[in-house]
Amino acid sequence: MNILVINGSPRGKASNTYRLAQAFLEGIKQAILGLAGTGSGQKADAHGESGNNVRVEELMVNRMDIRSCLGCFSCWNKTPGKCCIGDDMGEVIQKLLWADITIWSFPLYYYSVPGALKNLIDRQLPMCLPFMTEREDHVGNGSHPARYDMSGKKTVVISTCGFYTAEGNYDGVKSLFDHMCGRGSYTEIFCGQGELFRVPELSQRTDEYLSYVKAAGREYAKGDISVSTRKALEELLYPKEMFESMADASWGIDKESGEKETDTLIFTRQMAALYRKDSYAGKELVLEMLYTDLDECYQIVLGKEGSRVLKDGFKEATTRIETPVTVWKSIAAGEIRGDEALMRHLYKVKGDFSLMINWDNYFGSYGGSAAGEAGKVQTPEGRKAMSRKGTSMNIMLIPWIIFWVAVPINGQVGSLAGIGACALVPLLFYQYKKTFYDVLTGALVSGLSVTVLLGGPERIILPVSYFAFGLMWSVSCLGKIPLTAHYSMNDYGGDRALQNPLFVKTNRILTLLWGILYLLTPVWTYILMGTEISGFTGAVNSVLPALMGIFTVWFQRWYPAKVAGG
Ligand SMILES: Cc1cc2nc3c(=O)[nH]c(=O)nc-3n(C[C@H](O)[C@H](O)[C@H](O)COP(=O)(O)O)c2cc1C
Repeated sequence: MNILVINGSPRGKASNTYRLAQAFLEGIKQAILGLAGTGSGQKADAHGESGNNVRVEELMVNRMDIRSCLGCFSCWNKTPGKCCIGDDMGEVIQKLLWADITIWSFPLYYYSVPGALKNLIDRQLPMCLPFMTEREDHVGNGSHPARYDMSGKKTVVISTCGFYTAEGNYDGVKSLFDHMCGRGSYTEIFCGQGELFRVPELSQRTDEYLSYVKAAGREYAKGDISVSTRKALEELLYPKEMFESMADASWGIDKESGEKETDTLIFTRQMAALYRKDSYAGKELVLEMLYTDLDECYQIVLGKEGSRVLKDGFKEATTRIETPVTVWKSIAAGEIRGDEALMRHLYKVKGDFSLMINWDNYFGSYGGSAAGEAGKVQTPEGRKAMSRKGTSMNIMLIPWIIFWVAVPINGQVGSLAGIGACALVPLLFYQYKKTFYDVLTGALVSGLSVTVLLGGPERIILPVSYFAFGLMWSVSCLGKIPLTAHYSMNDYGGDRALQNPLFVKTNRILTLLWGILYLLTPVWTYILMGTEISGFTGAVNSVLPALMGIFTVWFQRWYPAKVAGG
């Protein structure tokens, strides 16, 4: 199969649109060469000849000598089929005749194609015969027959534009290609927000979009682009308002004064543009950015209606980030993980640390409809759906608490209650994911309850149960993920939190402290069980955990903030 790519962007290979065309081409090659999903790492080379039966030629219009048509009609009368201008257009016509698929790739310029490409299109005149005819598909009135047999040749039109959407902006282009190729006879991919494809900080979203373009290429090679891929391609890269703030900020010109702004201010404005106002939690937050290497400071006010950047007239900061701009840019571009950089003390955070913990909620990137789990997290509905499927510490705690409170009061009834809790609690919390510790709890509490039922001494079994509980917590600290992290991750973005070293370290410390408390609890439990107030052992043993609970709430805010503050 011969594929011709005509890149009509004056930017040549640095074109946004060309990236889409490359992705589409890669998809076609994958499908034809059978590389899709094999993970073979074999690269479908998009440049020049490629292996097997796919041959690719690329024409960079910006590097070619293609002059404008002289309107002399000599290609029709004096030298039929041959233009009188001796430039590169002869080669273009040869390639058009050679290609089975022609991919036209260009930016939208004034609602049409760029001028140089329009020259190339005009200069296709020698490919037509001069006679008057009507088109079979009745597009327009009047046409000229083709000089060559073009049947079976296919056309793909790929274009990006600068406005937030392609919708309503491509009438001119569609009309042109309807006349050139026939309505419905070509495949189109038109994408708004094209300039975002050159912003490394947004590559998570643009790469996702490119993956849909690639999928479209694969599907196209096998027949047609599927409805779901089409839908993903039609999705906006970012919501209109967010995109327009980013676009406005990118010019680096102050909206009021028209003055040039510093790179750091532009960067801060673009960061502010990514704020998701649906994350507003009832009070305005002020994020202060101090770029330590340049000694520049700005504030981003995160409010109900959106964000704004302050250059002066600062408010009291909720959270202050002290960072070299180079570090923050690397984080933004995804070159280093923010949490990792924090652990390596590459930047500091002062003030309220919760803004950092919930960073993805405030500034998370957007995913398309088919974005999968990562995308789902980005929408309020998705977040709800994710939290429904989270874990719950209640499944693990309730059976133990029932056992500890009920057994000292009445061994037989208490142990039956313990067994009942092990059976019922997982059912009551059926919508939550079960952890290893939920299952282990079921086994331990049931086992201990049965031992009491069979007449085991409560004064021994109760302390043993506390010890088993403490052991479960302490031993979990030796693993990669400590026990509490499996549950508290729900409040910190789900599974992603488990990759955050600071989150895991905080949980490891807390899990160990709780583990030690319960490894010691058997000592006074044994003593209490021998006294007259043995029936209240469960209640007495709740006092220290209650205090420990208060400490936990404080520690899980204080410790990360302490590390972050340097
Ligand atoms: C001269 C000129 C005219 C443009 N006209 C439009 C336009 O009419 N509508 C639009 O949405 N974007 C317009 N744009 C923006 C480009 O289409 C957009 O930046 C595109 O992504 C550039 O793609 P490229 O990198 O492939 O050249 C125009 C840009 C230039 C330079």
